[in-house]
Amino acid sequence: MKRKLVFATNNVHKLNEIRAMLGDRIEVLSLADIDCHADIPETADTLEGNALQKAHYVYDHYHCDCFADDTGLEVEALDGAPGVHTARYAYPDRHDPEANTRKLLDELKEKNSRRAQFRTVIALIISGEEHLFEGKVEGHIATEKRGTEGFGYDPVFIPEDTGLTFAQMGPDAKNRISHRGRAVAQLCDFLLHDCTTH
Ligand code: IMP
Repeated sequence: MKRKLVFATNNVHKLNEIRAMLGDRIEVLSLADIDCHADIPETADTLEGNALQKAHYVYDHYHCDCFADDTGLEVEALDGAPGVHTARYAYPDRHDPEANTRKLLDELKEKNSRRAQFRTVIALIISGEEHLFEGKVEGHIATEKRGTEGFGYDPVFIPEDTGLTFAQMGPDAKNRISHRGRAVAQLCDFLLHDCTTH
């Protein structure tokens, strides 16, 4: 029988990405698939803490193998901000990608360095054991928005050695080098090659 693994998300884009990488070897279920409609808390002060908090919530309530992710944009001149607050950078109580990007460009106006990195942490709980995976992409923040693809901060993030923002790349080119693509690749490698529990 195929092993089942719950991904603590209902984001269709993320689910499709990982299902494509795991092929038909592991069945990836969403929160909706296990009838979980809770607003899972994310109150830790690190990406690792949030990913673990979400994975443990699912493991403790539904007793199934599962994983969760958390992503942050870490900007050097802002001492690593917005970091764990990336989704709610402009407004603490809501996710407004347009306002987030505007605030970031404003904050960097007077700064000399525009260096930044995206970092994704994935926490996996399988057979009762925790495993963490991390993917990063270094780059810098553009001085204005460019491109129409993608989401979030994509129009202002220029990954190293490309000269293009994520929003100027197609999804395949982005996924090959992106923080999440790299973290997901590590998770899939582990599940398909290193993970000995069946
Ligand atoms: P999450 O942990 O995947 O929900 O990501 C947190 C926030 O980071 C999102 O709400 C986006 O604003 C931002 N973000 C995450 N991944 C990306 C990306 O690939 N491009 C642009 N923004 C991203």
